[in-house]
Amino acid sequence: MRTVDLIQRKRNGEELSPEEITWLVESYTRGEIPDYQVSAFLMAVYFQSMTDVEVGAMVESMIASGERLDLSSVPGPKVDKHSTGGVGDKTSLICAPLAAAAGVKVPMVSGRALGHTGGTLDKLESIPGFRTNLSVDEFRDVLNRVGFAVMGQSDEITPADGKLYALRDATATVESIPLIAASIMSKKLAASLDGLVLDVKVGAGAFMKRQVDARKLAQLMTTIARRADLRAQALITDMNQPLGYAIGNALEIMEVSQTLQFSGPDDLTKISLELAARMIYLAKVTATMEEARDLATAKLRDGSGYAKFKDMIAAQGGNPQVLDRFDLLPNATGAMEITSPRGGYISHIDAEEIGIASAMIGAGRDTKEDSIDPAVGVILEVKVGQKVEAGGVLCRLYFTKEDRIGEAAERVEDAFRISSTAPEPRELILEVVS
Ligand code: URA
Repeated sequence: MRTVDLIQRKRNGEELSPEEITWLVESYTRGEIPDYQVSAFLMAVYFQSMTDVEVGAMVESMIASGERLDLSSVPGPKVDKHSTGGVGDKTSLICAPLAAAAGVKVPMVSGRALGHTGGTLDKLESIPGFRTNLSVDEFRDVLNRVGFAVMGQSDEITPADGKLYALRDATATVESIPLIAASIMSKKLAASLDGLVLDVKVGAGAFMKRQVDARKLAQLMTTIARRADLRAQALITDMNQPLGYAIGNALEIMEVSQTLQFSGPDDLTKISLELAARMIYLAKVTATMEEARDLATAKLRDGSGYAKFKDMIAAQGGNPQVLDRFDLLPNATGAMEITSPRGGYISHIDAEEIGIASAMIGAGRDTKEDSIDPAVGVILEVKVGQKVEAGGVLCRLYFTKEDRIGEAAERVEDAFRISSTAPEPRELILEVVS
């Protein structure tokens, strides 16, 4: 087989056979095909898409590139949650401990910041001492003891996704329905789950800008799950403005702490509770969704979700005290206020622009080798629909280095739209696909 022939056929819109897809993924993972050829292949997929059979072969070969996580020694129903990526999206760190507190085992295989979106692993690593590079044995042990464990895709689990994910980030090929579906579902199927809740983000700050595309992605992922006998549900949720107020790694951990203590932002609390309820329901802890919603709310109100999060942090080497003492988290050295040029109502806050600005000052990466600055980011002072006076504070940028702050501030200023009338409220949870 010649890689160039496969690139050419995909470029021309032809369907490749499962054997050809498998050969490509295997050879690339072994380092036998250079990045530039696989980049060209990914770009061809971006424009020509893939058939369901091709995506199925891609998922299977990505799983086969590593080990399957054997969780048979962990008793109880295992359910995970995964987001397609958003700005200020820290829901995993809220819904997972709530579901775990309700008796669900949550083996979470998470990702890192990608493009303008944040990553659960980077957020957790802002906690001093926290380890995400657990071995499979350590992961199983934390899951058994605490009921909730987090690790990254690794050399053991779907290494093909690790290589492809980084290449896609650097070649503008992230926003592809089959590639996102294969990336997420390979990690999830490798983890031998009983259930999976997907949060498919749509809007300015999401990879899917249109609801019709988000629906296609949700349908593709739930179809892959069904074929593998995995119970799955996908929520399609709004990602036009950032979720909550905090964007940036340590800043988001602070907001997670507040939300798990029942004093977080409404939008974040609402989505996290719904995701936790669906995890509880898919795990069959309750017979109905209504009971699952009540149980998730009870675990938030009685503080057991908060306690579970602390237990997980301690079990993975982190200092759980950071949740009560934010001074123990990395803190920025400088802050800059962005103010409103006029009075009116906030009609739009472009989540993508805020995500890019936050990545620019160090909360994300330009290349996969870059390190993250855990302290920096943006805190919004207003959300869409709120009234603001001329000169009122829209948000604050927290930084440790001044070099890109001017450029980031301009982007953030441009992200806000102010109108003379209040905008129509938007639905947060738009659809459920199962
Ligand atoms: N999250 C993933 O794990 N993979 C993608 O491709 C996008 C979001």
